[in-house]
Amino acid sequence: MKGVILHGGHGTRLRPLTHTGPKQLIPVANKPISQYVLEDLRDSGIKEIAIILGDVYPEKVKEYYGDGERFGVRITYIHQGEPRGIAHAVGLCEDFVEEAFVVYLGDNLLKGGISSYVKEFSESDLDAMILLCEVVKPQLFGVAKFDDEGKLVGLVEKPKVPPSSYALTGIYFFRRAIFDTIRRLKPSWRGELEITEAIHLLLVNGYKVDHRIVSGWWKDTGTPDDILEANRLVLDELQTRIDGTVENQSSLQGRISLGSGSIVKSGALIRGPAVIGEGSMIEGDVYIGPYTSIGNGVVVIKSGEIENSIVMDGCVIDVNDRIIDSIIGPNTRIVLDRESKPSGRRFIIGESSQIIF
Ligand code: DAU
Repeated sequence: MKGVILHGGHGTRLRPLTHTGPKQLIPVANKPISQYVLEDLRDSGIKEIAIILGDVYPEKVKEYYGDGERFGVRITYIHQGEPRGIAHAVGLCEDFVEEAFVVYLGDNLLKGGISSYVKEFSESDLDAMILLCEVVKPQLFGVAKFDDEGKLVGLVEKPKVPPSSYALTGIYFFRRAIFDTIRRLKPSWRGELEITEAIHLLLVNGYKVDHRIVSGWWKDTGTPDDILEANRLVLDELQTRIDGTVENQSSLQGRISLGSGSIVKSGALIRGPAVIGEGSMIEGDVYIGPYTSIGNGVVVIKSGEIENSIVMDGCVIDVNDRIIDSIIGPNTRIVLDRESKPSGRRFIIGESSQIIF
């Protein structure tokens, strides 16, 4: 079976983070979201993978994944450009795939992974298999409709009145019948070719479509809060690993991963689960609280406190305040100027930034 990862879209709800790269490369627990996707495919035995590229810095995706060798897979890049819909992106893979294939949205995380579903689908004669998850706000997703006997009878994209609480996750198994159906689609109210509608058409036209309900958590990372929640979910499973230097008078509590070349100075307190990348420096008096991911080459000084946050590579944090629930893009400096007159806050920030005091 071959795999397809969707890496396009505009990521508008994640601006300004997506002004400089696709949302799927945003790190969760120090690893790009789409790398979890790629590794899930690989660990399920899928080594031939197409990555669909959008028009937000697609070269950064190619630079990171290359030909896939570093990750134990072979990657083919397919250019979509403008996001004309998930079904449009799938339609571009017609020449790449053979018989059965799996489409995995590059911003979706699934705790249990897809191995068992890959096996089940390849051994089946189904035309499509979808994975559903019970959610609190189904209206934000594609939603499944069941009849009185619990049989799947339809799918509807972001309905105002959801017919059930079961959302379509962004993981779809298909055989080639999907391509003819995609050719018959018209753009939806949001101007996109909807994969939900394509699967609905398969279903009502008598093709074999089945569903599975996922066990464990599933996360679509479309907003900053989703990203922070995904970070918490992944860090909940973190194993302790200390490759860096921990000075005597510092305190490490709970599960912590400290990368090589990183230093935790005397006086610092780190309370896990927390991950710190390589070559970072956590100075004395600093507190790093639970559910924090600190990238590579980050410096945290003075009496800064950070909790439930993601701090990306190359940042400098020098404050005597607590930073919470934050996502801080690469090479950002947040520093307290103790000398400046007149006193006040000074900002040099890009479009769509958020400052919450
Ligand atoms: O996450 C699950 C949901 O994903 C499903 O429940 C919905 O039925 C499905 O339509 C989709 O909804 P979203 O509104 O979350 O889709 P979004 O526009 O965020 O795109 C999902 C991923 O696919 C994202 O990684 C970007 C990528 N994408 C999207 C479009 C529209 C592309 O690569 N190309 C595209 O044209």
